[in-house]
Amino acid sequence: KKVVLAYSGGLDTSAIVPWLKDNYGCEVICFVADVGQGDAELEGVEAKALASGASECHIVDLKDEFVADYIYPTLKTGAIYEGTYLLGTSMARPIIAKAQVEIARKVGADALAHGCTGKGNDQVRFESCFAALAPDLKVIAPWREWDLTSRESLLNYLAERNIPCAASLTKIYSRDANAWHISTEGGELESPWNEPSEQVWTLTASPEQAPDKAEYVSVTVEKGAIVAVNGESYSPYQCLVKLNEIAAPHGVGRVDIVENRLVGMKSRGCYETPGGTVMVAALQAIDELVLDKTSRKWKEVLGGEFAHLVYDGRWFTPLKDSVLGGALALSEYASGEVVLKLYKGQVTAVQKKSPNSLYSESFATFGEDDVYNQAHAEGFIRLYSLSSRIAALHKAKS
Ligand code: ARG
Ligand code: SIN
Repeated sequence: KKVVLAYSGGLDTSAIVPWLKDNYGCEVICFVADVGQGDAELEGVEAKALASGASECHIVDLKDEFVADYIYPTLKTGAIYEGTYLLGTSMARPIIAKAQVEIARKVGADALAHGCTGKGNDQVRFESCFAALAPDLKVIAPWREWDLTSRESLLNYLAERNIPCAASLTKIYSRDANAWHISTEGGELESPWNEPSEQVWTLTASPEQAPDKAEYVSVTVEKGAIVAVNGESYSPYQCLVKLNEIAAPHGVGRVDIVENRLVGMKSRGCYETPGGTVMVAALQAIDELVLDKTSRKWKEVLGGEFAHLVYDGRWFTPLKDSVLGGALALSEYASGEVVLKLYKGQVTAVQKKSPNSLYSESFATFGEDDVYNQAHAEGFIRLYSLSSRIAALHKAKS
């Protein structure tokens, strides 16, 4: 029997390797998804997996696909969860699950395992994706089964089996990093009355420490996709890397929120999404120019739906295809260029233009123009408010 484990090299998944062998008597194949979490996490991860008792370790580079096929489509919908969260962890789960299933097929595994706790969203996301892609494979979620509930017990479990582990007893936070963001939960953040200490933040400078001089960055958008930064064309992944480099020193992209998890409870998280925050601001600026009132209102609906479906792990569903299809029709018009100003935690679109812009200086002007006859507004308002007038007349009569 073989199981493919989504492995990170952290303490939890390191303990899961021997635990699976002890409890299921199976061979464990580790799968590491490179979604841009950075070299520090990936370094030596194969050696660690083997030292924990895995028979193989597969590291798969998913960075380009993650940004091009998961992040960019999500951006085109305008999805933002509960008004603030840019879905960094949520968007990574479907691509990791998909690649994990592919490894399972390759090695002929009969089960999939993950290190998510039984209290979170990630278990739902992974297992919903597994269900859609590999309904025949068994799923093992050790956190829902074992009694190793503290870091101490996990470390002891490894020590008893002579498995080396560099993890320390005092790790404060639970973090999840990829090319788009890093999330931080736990520690003092568990009380929403505690302001995050500076050690919570790892990617971005604090706005107080950010340069006193603003920096301008220009972003080129083609049909809702960011294709160039400061006039240089890059792949989606490279655009993101570039914008992260530019935005992080200015403290752009920090949020600190309490959110509703799918499993009913609320949780508090701090998220850093520097480049992504710039991307979102640029795309919003283009939408301001190209979408008429009703299209924008519709896009808010699509983006709201998409945010929930991504957060809730429904990537591999016809619902996703349907909502995305709607958003793609609107993003056909989202092309142009935006200049953004980065300054002490803020990003502001200060220049914007689009060949599809519906904004017209000559129509908006307070001076003379030849498409808008102010006298026509009187008739419009009369019909527009007709039902109010009729209702008021009724009321006056009774
Ligand atoms: N609350 C966020 C989400 O559900 C972040 C989760 C972080 N996950 C993790 N395994 N640390 O998308
Ligand atoms: C976890 O519980 O594994 C992380 C948090 C989450 O999935 O929401």
